[in-house]
Amino acid sequence: MITEPHLADNFGRRFPYLRLSVTDVCNFSCSYCLPDGYKKTGCESFLEQKEIVRLVRAFAALGVWKIRLTGGEPTVRPDFIQIAQRVASVQGIKKLAFTTNGYKLPERAQSYYDAGLRAINISIDSLRPDQFKAITGHDRLEEILDGIDACYDAGFKSVKINTVLLKGLNDAELESFIDFVQDKALSLRFIELMRTRDNQKYFEEHHLPGTAVTERLLARGWHLKPREEGAGPAQEFAHKDSMGSIGLIAPYSKDFCKSCNRLRMSAKGALHLCLFGEGGYSVRHLLQSDDQQEELQEKIMALMNFKKSAHFLHDNNSGVRDHLASIGG
Ligand code: 5AD
Ligand code: SF4
Repeated sequence: MITEPHLADNFGRRFPYLRLSVTDVCNFSCSYCLPDGYKKTGCESFLEQKEIVRLVRAFAALGVWKIRLTGGEPTVRPDFIQIAQRVASVQGIKKLAFTTNGYKLPERAQSYYDAGLRAINISIDSLRPDQFKAITGHDRLEEILDGIDACYDAGFKSVKINTVLLKGLNDAELESFIDFVQDKALSLRFIELMRTRDNQKYFEEHHLPGTAVTERLLARGWHLKPREEGAGPAQEFAHKDSMGSIGLIAPYSKDFCKSCNRLRMSAKGALHLCLFGEGGYSVRHLLQSDDQQEELQEKIMALMNFKKSAHFLHDNNSGVRDHLASIGG
């Protein structure tokens, strides 16, 4: 029997999906991520386009068909559009998505779509302009909401919203968020706040377990959708009167890791097998020439053996990273 090439780990999980960070830099200063804004480290040598293409070719040859471009904020790269175009045209890549804070989205949505991007995740942590500004440092809620319409006009069919659950900052808005997707085909995802080295105290003050959302949704007649084959770790909810859907990403919940279907590359060329706590395995030295393609593929396959079954956050492995801007969430 001929099987399609695919990446798998020792626990039977398959990885059709790569999250590829193209920069650590971000122009926002979200209070849980980069409260003082991005600080230059002096070694900002992020992957060049040539390196990105070689990397994506290798993963595509190993069966990866979905790529998400992330950051930091990926769109701060002046060559973001070219990167998207080049990644979208790699043979085997069927879906190109990106995560953005929505900066200048109304005027840029069309160019994103034209570059080959087909799915967009926009971060919106509050639907109240003042609160949005307090969380992100930018008074841009209105622009971003206009950006959602611009995305649909541009041709995007998949528009998702990411909302980090923040006790005392946006939990009073749960109902507004639920109402928000009622007459829009949006998929909104609540994400449990994750602890990082930079946000320990903040985490203690503002972490809200995902069950707060589940309880609200169930009380309002939403139901948990059956898991689709190959779906990632989000739980998805639907309601008969709502066009949009609501998801929950609760990394601290039991069994979260069982449905892990993603790998991450940092903007400096390190493969991260888990969002939490491991330092990453650099493959950048294998991105320097087209001749290294085979070696690169072998290296990636070999690294899969190091993927652990779970993040072990419950066993006091804090899984701590400085912040998530370096790995794109
Ligand atoms: N916990 C949860 N989500 C986070 N993000 C960034 N830092 C954290 C954190 N500590 C999210 C952003 C965005 C995505 C890229 O990652 O809000 O939606
Ligand atoms: Fe930037 Fe995203 Fe971090 Fe906010 S969460 S500071 S938008 S990288």
